[in-house]
Amino acid sequence: MTRDFGVAATGSAGDPHAQARAAREQPLLLHSMAMFLELFETLFACRDISTVVEVGVESGQVSSLYADLGAAVYCVEPAPGDELRAVLDGDPRLNLVEGLSPAVLPDLPVADLYILDGDHNYAVIRDELAWIMANAPDAVVVLHDVLWPCGRRDFYYQPSPVAPEDTHPATTDGPTVWHDELTPAGFVGDGAYTVAERAGGPRNGVLTAVEDALDGNGDWRFRIVPAVFGFGVLARAGAPGTDAVFEALRPYTSSRLLAAMENNRIALYTHVLQLQYEAAARTDDATRLTETVNAQQQEIARLRSELERAQTELTARRREAHARREVPEAPAPGTAPIPELGEAMSHLGQALSARLRRTPPGRPR
Ligand SMILES: C[S@@+](CC[C@H](N)C(=O)[O-])C[C@H]1O[C@@H](n2cnc3c(N)ncnc32)[C@H](O)[C@@H]1O
Repeated sequence: MTRDFGVAATGSAGDPHAQARAAREQPLLLHSMAMFLELFETLFACRDISTVVEVGVESGQVSSLYADLGAAVYCVEPAPGDELRAVLDGDPRLNLVEGLSPAVLPDLPVADLYILDGDHNYAVIRDELAWIMANAPDAVVVLHDVLWPCGRRDFYYQPSPVAPEDTHPATTDGPTVWHDELTPAGFVGDGAYTVAERAGGPRNGVLTAVEDALDGNGDWRFRIVPAVFGFGVLARAGAPGTDAVFEALRPYTSSRLLAAMENNRIALYTHVLQLQYEAAARTDDATRLTETVNAQQQEIARLRSELERAQTELTARRREAHARREVPEAPAPGTAPIPELGEAMSHLGQALSARLRRTPPGRPR
């Protein structure tokens, strides 16, 4: 019974830490299509898939997964880096297509499976689906990121080729689960993408684009596996294998458990983002405070040595005056105050407190 998932999922009496080890070996944020291997195995089992178009390849670590299931893969990526080129060059089953989807789709063989994981916004998904529905009506289409955060909010990879009239006002701040407004402590692109300032409304987000595509095409069916940002499956009723595909995926697409775990995952992850952001801000504050304290300590040392110089000078003058019998002998320490020394101390004290008042702790000087 406990063997179903292997020791990495359950540990064992002899290796009780195996599950924890497997957990910490995962990235903190699961986001790759590689997570959906068992879903792809199901798709390939339900219908013949010999050609795959993979839109949005990034590092290329997932492309071979489709090839291992038996397909020739066309890997569409606008600006492939060296790592991606090396991965794809080394595998004859993988074909690099350097360009933007949907513009490149007509140049490629009509595929049995389209995997849409490129630019996550309404305009691009709308155009990709329009082309596929018109030109590859028997294909299965898999869409990533049909749930939060892209489902109802456009994301724009930068520099964005999307026509300005097809975009929403966008920002580098990011969404979080913890409130509806965007925040620099949220799910930010760090230069890779911007996000629409407002969520929802017409023509906004990946899922909205799918719904609009379905509106005009009544014979297409769509289901969501609510895990790892949402795995959408779209296929035409009557196309080969469609019934089998949706039947086989039903335990996943109807799982309230998966949906609850996904919501918990995004809540926890965005909480971690918030904590990381606050920790970085506190480190900056502490660095500034240390600089302020250092500068004030130097100032105190300088004022002290000024005071010592003044005291020495005063003592010397008093001696001179005493020698000339112009002033009485200096009183014994702790008896009567010396007016000049008191005045000098008061000046220095005032200067020091004025300076400290001008540089409150935590503020840069
Ligand atoms: C989320 S990543 C893809 C991750 C990959 N599918 C995986 O599961 O590991 C999105 C990728 O899409 C690429 N991209 C952005 N706009 C695109 C477009 N219009 N056509 C194709 N790829 C695009 C980006 O450069 C980025 O590498």
